[in-house]
Amino acid sequence: MNMENIDFISRSEADTFALAESLCHAMPHGGVIALFGDLGAGKTVFARGFAKALGITEPVSSPTYTIIQEYPAPGGKYLYHLDLYRISDERAGLAFGVDEYLESGEYVLVEWPERIAKLLPENTLKLQITHTGENERHWTVMK
Ligand SMILES: Nc1ncnc2c1ncn2[C@@H]1O[C@H](COP(=O)(O)OP(=O)(O)O)[C@@H](O)[C@H]1O
Ligand SMILES: [Mg+2]
Repeated sequence: MNMENIDFISRSEADTFALAESLCHAMPHGGVIALFGDLGAGKTVFARGFAKALGITEPVSSPTYTIIQEYPAPGGKYLYHLDLYRISDERAGLAFGVDEYLESGEYVLVEWPERIAKLLPENTLKLQITHTGENERHWTVMK
């Protein structure tokens, strides 16, 4: 999987799951993935696929009210799942300590990353998800 050139049509939840699994395997040492896309784009479905690829068995929920969920993975790794829907801006994000998660070196998935755009590390993989049909989503890398 070439992470700079992702251009993927997902036609089902299972496709999005599979994309997340391959991306996870392509980044064995952690990293930040920002998931840009509307409500229902499949950001949380992606997070579930990613967690599964890391061997996490705990169910991954949509952490709308918790902002940050921490999932320990086998081998001493962590997955941090951030849902910033309710965060207004960078200042509010910093009050929740999002910078520490982003700079942790662990796996970090960010829903609604536009809220804290200025805090995203330079090497963040920015994925844009577009609704192209009822069950179809187009996944591309944002430059
Ligand atoms: N190709 C697809 N990929 C991911 N989810 C899909 C797809 N097609 C339909 N869906 C549905 O869209 C919804 C995505 O929900 P969710 O992942 O919670 O979105 P988000 O976190 O982006 O708001 C789910 O109900 C899922 O079943
Ligand atoms: Mg979600």
